[in-house]
Amino acid sequence: MNANLHMIIKELYLKDLSACRTLAKKLAMLLKTGDIITLDGNLGTGKTEFCRAIIHALGYNEDVPSPTFNLVQVYEPELDDMETPAVWHIDLYRLENEEDVFELGIEDAFDTAVTLIEWPEKMGRFLPQEHLKINLKMAATEEARSITFAGGAYWQKKLGALEV
Ligand SMILES: Nc1ncnc2c1ncn2[C@@H]1O[C@H](COP(=O)(O)OP(=O)(O)OP(=O)(O)O)[C@@H](O)[C@H]1O
Ligand SMILES: [Mg+2]
Repeated sequence: MNANLHMIIKELYLKDLSACRTLAKKLAMLLKTGDIITLDGNLGTGKTEFCRAIIHALGYNEDVPSPTFNLVQVYEPELDDMETPAVWHIDLYRLENEEDVFELGIEDAFDTAVTLIEWPEKMGRFLPQEHLKINLKMAATEEARSITFAGGAYWQKKLGALEV
């Protein structure tokens, strides 16, 4: 793998859930169809909360349940809405074999939607290399988190000015 593909772009300290949501909203405003974001981090670090904030910020006002059981939740814009990207929110925690990912129709998402993937390591070699890698870690207090963004040149350029 090309070593430049996932250079650390930035590491930010988020003091609480509200800071996480604010950052997710700012990131959402930069996203376009075709963008793939993976979220790593232990159980309960806030991967789903982060995705939820992105999806709401893109204008989807409905509930955003964790896709733990369905594995995929799809959000589609209204037919006359040419601006809002579709979103595929995917949680691969329960995926047993890498190959099973194709049963989800995931390759369609890569071209036609913004794809957010929790537990990306479960799809192993089928994960496209060009993606933004987000890592969430617990920090000093119960609500504090440390977040790291890593990616290639495309993401470095896009996230240059992103701050909490
Ligand atoms: N700063 C924070 N960011 C995100 N979640 C937070 C924060 N502080 C507290 N929380 C709480 O932590 C929990 C995070 O749960 P969430 O489902 O988002 O985790 P997850 O990483 O998706 O877990 P899983 O691996 O089970 O999918 C929520 O209950 C949320 O309210
Ligand atoms: Mg989750």
